[in-house]
Amino acid sequence: MIRLKHVVEAQQFNKKMLKELFTIADNMEKILGKGGGDLLRSKILASLFYVPSNRTRFSFESAMIRLGGQVLSTDVAEAFSSELKGGSLEETIRTIGYYSDVIVLRHYESGSAKRAAKVSPVPIINGGDGTAQHPTQALIDLYTIERELGGVDGVVIAFVGDLANSRSVRSLCYFLAKHTGIKIYFVAPPMLNMREDMIQYLKRRQINLFEVGGLNPHLEDLAKKVDVFYVTQIPVESFGDRLDDYEKSKKNFVVDKKVLKKMKRNSILMHPLPRDGEINPEVDRDLRAVYYKQVYYGICIRMALLCSVFGKMP
Ligand code: CP
Repeated sequence: MIRLKHVVEAQQFNKKMLKELFTIADNMEKILGKGGGDLLRSKILASLFYVPSNRTRFSFESAMIRLGGQVLSTDVAEAFSSELKGGSLEETIRTIGYYSDVIVLRHYESGSAKRAAKVSPVPIINGGDGTAQHPTQALIDLYTIERELGGVDGVVIAFVGDLANSRSVRSLCYFLAKHTGIKIYFVAPPMLNMREDMIQYLKRRQINLFEVGGLNPHLEDLAKKVDVFYVTQIPVESFGDRLDDYEKSKKNFVVDKKVLKKMKRNSILMHPLPRDGEINPEVDRDLRAVYYKQVYYGICIRMALLCSVFGKMP
């Protein structure tokens, strides 16, 4: 059965591990349905967040508590950590490793989770490192596709938004590349396109890739072609002083009722959340809008990850 030492990047998973993890997540849903269990009784999770989070922090903490464990938590580590007095991330991790049995880390620097894993006496789970990866969000996303569409092979997916900086999209791309018959549309404003290293990675894996550029991607046309519409934020900071481009993107990269009307009946609309206007709440009640299902599946996946780290299976 799957046993994880650390969870730092999507590339560490193979298809067999994904299948096993998703089976455990299915079982976790049953435990959740009974109000929880005690598989991780006496274990302590430390959530060490240098950057704000609702979903990742609360869902890991909730998952740990549902499994009978306990939680130590800081959501503003950059303000209260002893690193302000001169310590390093490595020193913090070594120290908190004495107080806990697993650490979930969110940090502003790409590569920080790997750095932490190198020195940590306990498992490190990457809760998002800079613009590099967010592997647990991508596991949730992959599980959502599996659950909602019945499988991942052959899926046509459009990623829409700031693809240069979305760590969730990057991690999900690594997972999709392990599957067959995948077709990906990258849809981003100029300068926010998917980075070249990922484009080359996907091409080497024979993934069918299309890049849709410009400030008006005509989402209604695209909507007809895809099984999954995966939308992310377009933050103003990503545009620097190109505020005109930002205003046009904010207007044209929006999924609303008109776009949804063109989507296939059995397709899904996803978002890792939080959103900032790029999906109009008017579509929330449509059955194809599954972003709150992603939130729900997040608990099952994170319960499964914690059990896999401790080798405790239901
Ligand atoms: N999807 C996600 O990572 O959300 P948070 O930033 O709220 O954790």
